Amino acid sequence: MASRTVFTCQACGHASPKWLGRCPDCGAWNTFVEERAAAPARGGGRRSGHSLAGVLAAATEPVEPIALHQVDAGRQPRLPTGMAELDRVLGGGFVPGSVVLVGGDPGVGKSTLLLQVSQHLAARGSPVLYVTGEESAAQVRLRAERLGALAPDLAVLPTTDALQAAEAIGRYQPALAVIDSIQTLAHPDVASAPGSVSQVRESVALLMAVTKRLPVVLVLVGHVTRAGTIAGPRVVEHMVDAVLYFESPAHHAYRLLRAIKNRFGATHEIALFEMQDRGLAEVANPSARLLSERPRGAAGSAVVAAVEGTRPLLVEIQALVAPAPYGNPRRVATGLDLGRAALVLAVLDKRAGLHLGGCDVYLKVAGGLRVDEPALDLALAVALASSHRDRPADPEAVVIGELGLAGEVRSVQRVDERVREAQRLGFRRVVLPRGNLTPALAGVAGELELVPVQRVEEAIAATVG
Ligand code: TYD
Ligand code: MG
Repeated sequence: MASRTVFTCQACGHASPKWLGRCPDCGAWNTFVEERAAAPARGGGRRSGHSLAGVLAAATEPVEPIALHQVDAGRQPRLPTGMAELDRVLGGGFVPGSVVLVGGDPGVGKSTLLLQVSQHLAARGSPVLYVTGEESAAQVRLRAERLGALAPDLAVLPTTDALQAAEAIGRYQPALAVIDSIQTLAHPDVASAPGSVSQVRESVALLMAVTKRLPVVLVLVGHVTRAGTIAGPRVVEHMVDAVLYFESPAHHAYRLLRAIKNRFGATHEIALFEMQDRGLAEVANPSARLLSERPRGAAGSAVVAAVEGTRPLLVEIQALVAPAPYGNPRRVATGLDLGRAALVLAVLDKRAGLHLGGCDVYLKVAGGLRVDEPALDLALAVALASSHRDRPADPEAVVIGELGLAGEVRSVQRVDERVREAQRLGFRRVVLPRGNLTPALAGVAGELELVPVQRVEEAIAATVG
């Protein structure tokens, strides 16, 4: 088949016959790159390419539809990863036959995490194949030694050839196959550079065609770069069963692992890890950890039950209000949106008689986390009022609510999960929007006192006094 040239958006994979400045699909600017495909890329790599024939032989047997009630659900026990927090994010361990994408910035600890998991499984008799396109076998060995005992069932394959990787998986049939990383893989039939959208898509399609029939857990590692020059694993997200993102809040030792898609579990799970000298260690109770350094009895601090990604997480909002000596007040927000802070300041000024126009205002989310959602508003207001009056806010209270421009407190989403998290961490009161108070929520709250408010002043009066 004749080769054809397409321009592909490196952010989302949208293909166009001509170069475009802005992607009509995802709206990204300047992301189109010329790529050459030897043949139409559809069909999951199932084409007449000679080099594919051997690898795909198993996958091209004729298939018959089966009556649904006769389908063997194949409930194989899940594979525990050796890390309870990771198991929880996965919905109870790896599901045999599933494909998991682990994305994250370079250096965040993806290889470390997966090598730890590989060692755990291999030590318990589940063979693991670790395909590394980034590091040499020796480098992987050195790292593995640092992380613990070497297990004989852990095999490493240094290659960047997608066919070799697929062939090795088909032959070795491990319980877990790790591809580190999909950006380094190249499919010999695709002419574009490794890391481009068509390379990543074709390589992954090939690997999935091979692992589909086997009870292999396929874990794909993908780098995400802010610049967007290398294809993010976005195109792969639609193909896989679960997508986990590994993030590192700036200047902090801990790492956040978040499930943003999971066919075999809840997506509202996150896990906190800490990078230590012998690998990643789990943080069993993230909210408690994030609140551990909270100053008791200090003014300018309020706790909010945020929903970070999709999981409720208690975070401390800190505010410092100080007279501006030079007449040009500063507004600094760390870990949250400055526009949101400006809105809360304006509402406090106009609706609550809290005039901070002549003051420097510093706001931050303690612990290096970045959170941005409307439910933060009320906690910002309480922290600001507390700092301004130099009076601590109730340390036993969690504050939740969105602020409207008239000073009204508006309802937020997922309030029962937030209340549950406050309860779990031993708080006594939750100040929340009146609109969110339902009999069902009162049932969830148990011993916890729910303080419904309609106006920002009420919330301040209930917590700061
Ligand atoms: P790595 O897993 O290579 O990141 P990624 O695969 O996501 O690019 O590890 C990242 C960092 O972790 C690296 O800077 C070294 C550090 N590290 C430790 O602090 N302790 C350890 O035990 C290991 C293995 C790595
Ligand atoms: Mg790595």
